[in-house]
Amino acid sequence: MPHTTLPEFHDRMLSLALARVSEAAAMASAHLIGHGDEKAADQAAVNAMREQLNMLDIRGVVVIGEGERDEAPMLYIGEEVGSGTGPEVDIALDPLEGTALTAKDMPNALTVVAMGARGSLLHAPDVYMDKLAIGPGFPRDVVTLAMEPAERVRVLAGAKGCEPGDITVCILDRPRHEDLIAEVRSTGAAIRLITDGDVAGIMHCAEAHLTGIDMYMGKGGAPEGVLAASALKCMGGQMYGQLLFRNDDEIARARKAGIEDLDRIYTLDEMVRRNVVFAATGVTDGNLLPGVRREPHQFTTETILMRSKTGSVRRIRYTNPV
Ligand code: FBP
Repeated sequence: MPHTTLPEFHDRMLSLALARVSEAAAMASAHLIGHGDEKAADQAAVNAMREQLNMLDIRGVVVIGEGERDEAPMLYIGEEVGSGTGPEVDIALDPLEGTALTAKDMPNALTVVAMGARGSLLHAPDVYMDKLAIGPGFPRDVVTLAMEPAERVRVLAGAKGCEPGDITVCILDRPRHEDLIAEVRSTGAAIRLITDGDVAGIMHCAEAHLTGIDMYMGKGGAPEGVLAASALKCMGGQMYGQLLFRNDDEIARARKAGIEDLDRIYTLDEMVRRNVVFAATGVTDGNLLPGVRREPHQFTTETILMRSKTGSVRRIRYTNPV
């Protein structure tokens, strides 16, 4: 039998194509910004992202997607995408990260997609994850999930050479975070509460000088955790995640995804094991990316496109006549 080897994942050119994937999703959902219909905005982004992914010369498998096969008709976990020729890759995506933000025209909604060679990404089930993230420039493991939240603030302040009162922590505004918020506030630190969108919240830590956010803490979606880890792998920074299970069904989802140690605290490099490329396009205006600009005869988008292999960061401004 002839021996055939599959082409390797060369992220240099494929990364450029990935920008089109997130751009297309952002443009497709743009006309639904502020229209109060989360589902329609998400569906438009899903359709566009899937169509673009299927144009790429990859043998792609969605490992972080819209949900399990029986609950998501498109871009479900395990769906094969791409032309079926080219390298074998893992894809993590969130066609619209911040569906409510988009429906309400609130800041920081993004379209997000990451790609790495097969086996690069943690197959996180659709459960919650306890997350902790900081930006680059700090000693390894300076703060960890094993520390109490107040200690994390004090230690980070020490490492930064400032007072706890000079630290800003980003946290999702949820009743489940009441105690966390009280404990962080007891240190004197400021809290930037966000209503949704913890991928953007975590990315904000990597550009603290622009966003004013030093640390991210709290429980959010596990799939979003792997996407955020992919972004930080490119931007620099540290992140930890621990999966949280509320019932047997969630444990079964984890087992199905191949997770054996349910209590494990994952480091960034355990969530994203090999080099990845990451693209995100702004849907609504945010600190990292402007949202889609709609003018009578054209759309303009801005995309951040990054490669962890080189640490390169591109910002692509795309204008498309309509
Ligand atoms: P969607 O855009 O899929 O609605 O997710 C938004 C989000 O805020 C994520 O960023 C976050 O991880 C998750 O929802 C938090 O979940 P919950 O709303 O259940 O607290």
